Amino acid sequence: MPRIHVEECESTQLLLLDSNLPEGAVATADHQTGGRGRLGRVWVETPGSSVLCSVLLRPPAGRAVAQLSLVGGLAVAEAVEGVSGLPALIKWPNDVLVEGRKVAGVLAEQRGAAVVLGIGINVNQAEERLAADARVPAGSLRSLTGRLFDREEVLAAFLGRLDGLYARWRDGGLGAVHAELTARDFLRGRRVSVNGVEGVADGLDPEGRLLVDGSPVESGEVSFG
Ligand code: BTN
Repeated sequence: MPRIHVEECESTQLLLLDSNLPEGAVATADHQTGGRGRLGRVWVETPGSSVLCSVLLRPPAGRAVAQLSLVGGLAVAEAVEGVSGLPALIKWPNDVLVEGRKVAGVLAEQRGAAVVLGIGINVNQAEERLAADARVPAGSLRSLTGRLFDREEVLAAFLGRLDGLYARWRDGGLGAVHAELTARDFLRGRRVSVNGVEGVADGLDPEGRLLVDGSPVESGEVSFG
């Protein structure tokens, strides 16, 4: 698959959105000047510290794109755990947490039939370079383990996991990965607040929506106690 790598760009998402590249094309950068986060936020990182990666997907028509954030988050969690040895969980819908710290975020952007799945993984940031004021405290693989990681190795682990999980989701729907998502569900059993609704998170329904006291939530920013 084609891989575009640049030292610097506004956002790796922009290298793939509106492109005619084939499914599976990957764009990476050492630094982004306008990294995009979910809900219109910015994604800021120290140059050369992170895995900044976008993957072009062309899912079958009519499929719920929001589920791809979960598939991407699962691939990141498995990769992070594989390279670091630390258990990684998914905070619905798009954060990957280790020891309660956000080490990665996932952003799915759609253009027509194409979806660009963007992932940012905090790899080698020193503790003092991590955002201190984030809603969920930030962590990096380095801050959590005390050692440096090869970013290419982390990227390869992620892409390898995504390959298999995406194929399973494409062929079998969310049900094909639901058990793994449930096993890594950070919110399950916690008191949460989302879109003005408060209750206990009961896991994900078969469509990947968050269940709060049994009622499905489509999307939103979850606070937890
Ligand atoms: C979030 O947690 O809000 C999602 C963050 C996604 C960041 C990644 S970094 C690579 C790709 N390019 C971007 O501009 N954003 C995503």
